Amino acid sequence: EKGTYPHFMLKEIDEQPFVMRRIIQEYQDTDNNLKLDDAIRNAMTACDRIYIIAAGTSYHAGLVGKQFLEKMAGIPVEVHVASEFSYNMPLLSEKPLFVFISQSGETADSRSVLVKIKEMGYPALTITNVPGSTLSREADFTLNLYAGPEIAVASTKAYTAQIAVLAILAVDTARAKDLELAFDPLQELAIVANAMEALTDQKETIEELVRNNLGTTRNAFFIGRGSDYFVCLEGALKLKEISYIQAEGFAGGELKHGTIALIEEGTPVIALATQENVNYSIRSNVQEVVARGANDLIFSMKGLEQDTDAFVVPHVHELLTPLVSVVPMQLLAYYAALNRDCDVDKPRNLAKSVTVE
Ligand code: M6R
Repeated sequence: EKGTYPHFMLKEIDEQPFVMRRIIQEYQDTDNNLKLDDAIRNAMTACDRIYIIAAGTSYHAGLVGKQFLEKMAGIPVEVHVASEFSYNMPLLSEKPLFVFISQSGETADSRSVLVKIKEMGYPALTITNVPGSTLSREADFTLNLYAGPEIAVASTKAYTAQIAVLAILAVDTARAKDLELAFDPLQELAIVANAMEALTDQKETIEELVRNNLGTTRNAFFIGRGSDYFVCLEGALKLKEISYIQAEGFAGGELKHGTIALIEEGTPVIALATQENVNYSIRSNVQEVVARGANDLIFSMKGLEQDTDAFVVPHVHELLTPLVSVVPMQLLAYYAALNRDCDVDKPRNLAKSVTVE
């Protein structure tokens, strides 16, 4: 039920802090340690490479998850779009573990890969919001997202839940392998939950940004470097999906290799700047587009902000910034769609789960 909310999407955006807290609770044992099945831990420590298979927003969460698993658990990871994997199957490692990420657990493109790799005899872990779903039943192991039903076609709380669970999985594996930890996931996710709450309280600011900058535009670009780039892909997908504004997410350094030709007077360029190591370079990419007439909107993080930035998100651990920077991206898409009288929860041509290949 939507309750007092005008749309499920807005309700689901607002639920994200609670989802973070529920994940902390569900994955924590009575001694405040992580609680994961031994079987999953064994599969994680036994594999020599992880193949993440997903579609759409879940694929974008996989890109963020790769960073956790490589940087913290020391396992090489490949992230593949499900619909391409079977046709362009890479050379597999000796001991692969397949990780399927899917809100619904019913995406046909992902399922067809699961069927294939099970025939080949490889182990599979599904990370899903629907534990009894097809992908969950047919895999060897399941991790639950605990996000509660997601009704809006545009995925929001499932994306942040997927990233949080991937962080927990990476830290648990790192502990099992006696590796040094980048952070305490439960403590850092609690900080993220508070930051998300602060962000969902700033809807009016985002609404105004949309009104002033995305009102009549035909297109928009999202640029970022490092993990900001992955959030740009998600921000662009969200905007396209529900507002029908043509949007593209780009790696900041890649713009000048072609796409910059599309920048005209007033073209909105949304830049994410939450990563310290690329703060200088992304800001110079913004200067490049501004010099060609772009209307820049910089979303930075507390501690890295400058006076002219459009919006500043609270500070969180640098590996977890996608969890907070995506919230204003979701709200941007929401208000842009609302502005254009679009059917926010049920955009044209789309279904909640895509059960055909
Ligand atoms: O249920 P899944 O996570 O497997 O769905 C995958 C995509 O179809 C889904 O994320 C889609 O891209 C969303 N509508 C994006 O908001």
